[in-house]
Amino acid sequence: MLVLRVGNHDPASSDLTATSAGTKVYRNDISFREKRTGMADISEIPKGRGRMKGKVVLVMGGGSVLPGWGNGKAAAVLYAVEGASVIVVDAKEEAAQETVRIISSAGGIATALAADATSEDDVARVVDACRDAYRRIDVLHNNVGGSGTGRSLDDITLADWNATIARNLTSAMLSSRAVLPVMMAQGGGAMVNVSSISSIRHLGVATAVYSAGKAGLNGFTQNIALNYAAKGIRANCVLPGYIDTPFIRRPIGGKPNYERKGFKTAEEYALARDKTIPMGRMGSGWDVAYASLFLASDEAAYITGTTLVVDGGVTATCPGV
Ligand SMILES: NC(=O)c1ccc[n+]([C@@H]2O[C@H](COP(=O)([O-])OP(=O)(O)OC[C@H]3O[C@@H](n4cnc5c(N)ncnc54)[C@H](O)[C@@H]3O)[C@@H](O)[C@H]2O)c1
Repeated sequence: MLVLRVGNHDPASSDLTATSAGTKVYRNDISFREKRTGMADISEIPKGRGRMKGKVVLVMGGGSVLPGWGNGKAAAVLYAVEGASVIVVDAKEEAAQETVRIISSAGGIATALAADATSEDDVARVVDACRDAYRRIDVLHNNVGGSGTGRSLDDITLADWNATIARNLTSAMLSSRAVLPVMMAQGGGAMVNVSSISSIRHLGVATAVYSAGKAGLNGFTQNIALNYAAKGIRANCVLPGYIDTPFIRRPIGGKPNYERKGFKTAEEYALARDKTIPMGRMGSGWDVAYASLFLASDEAAYITGTTLVVDGGVTATCPGV
C-alpha cells in the first residue's frame, strides 16, 4: 500500500483557516461553469472557516477518474481547507496523490493511500494505517461508486451486477464495518455516503444495477444511523443529481461516456444535461462537497439517517402535459 504524507499530522495543531489559499466563489460562478472541469484549478478552492478543525477524515475514493474536480476530490480538499487532517484513499495511486498534492498546495494536511475499497484486506489496512497515524477517525466519507457497464436487464451480466454492487454498496459496508469500532471507542463519529438521485428516481436512461446499489446504500446508511445512534455515530447520505465532473469524459467500454450517450463532444453532452435541470445547470463537485461537509460537521449534530438531495431541483419535478 502506497503512503504519501504531507503537512503536519497532529490534527490538534492544524489551523488551515489561516493558511489555506484561494477565495474564489465556488457556486453559480460563470467562469467555473464555462471552464467545464478541465484540470483541477486550485484557485477554485474556497477559503476555509475552520468547520472541521481538529478532525480526522477518511475519504474513500478521494481521487478523480480524470483531471478536474470530482465529487470525492472536491470533498477531500474541502474537509482539509476546513481544518481536517484527511486520508485520501483511491484505487489509483496517482489519483490519491494528486488530491494530496492539491491539499498540500492549499496549506492542508493529507495522506494518500492506494487501496481497493472493495477488498476486505485493503480496507482493514487503510483503517489500521489511520489508527496508527491519528488514533481516531471522526468522519468516514464513502465516495466510491459509479454506474459501470451493465445498465438494463437486456444486457446485464452477473459480472456487471457483482462489480457494480461491490463498488456502490459493498465498499461502504466494508469501510463502515472497519471504522465503527474506532468511532465507538472514541465515543462517536459521522459517516457520509455518496448515493445518487438514481436511487429514488428513474432518470430516463437504464441504470438498473446502479440504482439498486445506491438504493441499497440509502437503506444501509439508515440502518447504521439507527443501530448506532445511541453510540454517538451519525450516518447520512448525499444524493447528487447531474454533476459536472470528469465522469462526463470518462471512457466506458472503450468510448468516452458522451459518445456512448450519442453526443459528439463533452460540451454538447454537458449542455444537454444542463437543459434538463430546473436551475439550468449541472452541479459541481463543490456543491456535493459542501452538502457532505455540512453532514460531516458538528453543525449537523442532530441529523442522522437522512438523505440530502443535491440536484438543482431535478427530483422536485414531475412530467406534465
Ligand atoms: N458525477 C455525477 O453526475 C454523479 C451523480 C450522482 C452520484 N455520483 C456519485 O458520486 C461518486 C463519484 O463521484 P466522482 O465525481 O468523485 O467520481 P470519480 O469517478 O471521478 O471518482 C471516484 C474515485 O474513486 C476511485 N475508485 C473507484 N473504484 C474504487 C475502488 N474500488 N477503491 C478505491 N477507489 C476507487 C476512482 O479511481 C476515482 O478516483 C460516486 O459514488 C457516484 O456514483 C456522481
